[in-house]
Amino acid sequence: MTHPSIPVAVLGASGYTGGELIRLLQMHPRFRIAHAAAHSRAGSRLQEALPGVRGEAGGLILSPLEAPLPAEVELVFTALPHGTAAIRVKEMLAAGRKVVDLSADFRYRNEEVYKQAYELEHPCPELLSEAVFGLSEHARQAVSEARLVANPGCYPTSTLLPLLPLLKADVVDESRIIVDSKSGASGAGRGMKPELLYCELNEGVRAYGLPRHRHASEMEAGADLFCGRRIDVHFVPHILPMTRGMLTTLHLCGRNPGDWHRILREAYRNEAFVRILPEGSLPSTSFVRGSNRCDIALEVTGEDRAVVISCLDNLVKGAAGQALQNANIMFGLEETLALPQTAIWP
Ligand SMILES: NC(=O)c1ccc[n+]([C@@H]2O[C@H](COP(=O)([O-])OP(=O)(O)OC[C@H]3O[C@@H](n4cnc5c(N)ncnc54)[C@H](OP(=O)(O)O)[C@@H]3O)[C@@H](O)[C@H]2O)c1
Repeated sequence: MTHPSIPVAVLGASGYTGGELIRLLQMHPRFRIAHAAAHSRAGSRLQEALPGVRGEAGGLILSPLEAPLPAEVELVFTALPHGTAAIRVKEMLAAGRKVVDLSADFRYRNEEVYKQAYELEHPCPELLSEAVFGLSEHARQAVSEARLVANPGCYPTSTLLPLLPLLKADVVDESRIIVDSKSGASGAGRGMKPELLYCELNEGVRAYGLPRHRHASEMEAGADLFCGRRIDVHFVPHILPMTRGMLTTLHLCGRNPGDWHRILREAYRNEAFVRILPEGSLPSTSFVRGSNRCDIALEVTGEDRAVVISCLDNLVKGAAGQALQNANIMFGLEETLALPQTAIWP
């Protein structure tokens, strides 16, 4: 029996995460791209804005963001800069559509925390309590009932997936959580920035976002939301001369680290997209590139300490892939639909 397709829209289709959504949606057996919109690239064909796209979607003309959507659209992905996404999200919900927002605009329940982290007044704070923070593996039930899913950031996803089971098991010292992350340059989006020019990025690695990168507060809010724990995260992100990928190392202290590998294995034993590597193996961004997987390894480094290392593709599990995973859950579809479990390797 064939099922009717579900028309979807992508606002911000010309960006890196929007483009990745288009790629994944083209492989989806149930979602159909009915509308795509952009800001400065509005008026172009999708295949001009995204040279990798072909087929029916490639011929779509990118609409301006404020253009009305076809009435049939049931689900909207907003892949827009923070601050600009919120108002579109509000319009979409008012028109009776479901939304998965990839920006940071609905990731916090507390308006003040958003204001501090993003230095912006929230344009629709009344929606913050309704939004579901969509870390799929930990929020399935809430996502399945949501109208609005706030897709987590890439750094918080790579941190919370390994951290939450250990916090829930009450084995880590919450006051000393050191998170050291490395990201590929696509994490900064497609906009023109001098520090992302080839000559300024190539052959170098640099830290940024200090003293407190805004994703630290999202990690802390996630630990509070899922575990009721007030953690103190010491987070340092770095940018590397690679296109995609994120490697996060958590330096953790606590009780019985010899038991932590078992805790992680049990937490994720039935999960399609989270793989706990065998003891002694270490992950690499090149083992997850293009996939919706997060690979996690653990090494005990002392009587009361361990490092936990996670790898994911920032554009897939860190953005568009998790957004599609959430959309599958929201529509009662098989969660893994159109989401690669195998990486592009080498
Ligand atoms: N990149 C990542 O790895 C990643 C991971 C997780 C979450 N996110 C979040 O996802 C969202 C999109 O990120 P991205 O990396 O895809 O960004 P991007 O590559 O810069 O794309 C931004 C999109 O928004 C449009 N846009 C740009 N400036 C705008 C403005 N002033 N008003 C309205 N629309 C505007 C662009 O349209 P034109 O191209 O037509 O100008 C483009 O379609 C952001 O909120 C980001 O924080 C990104």
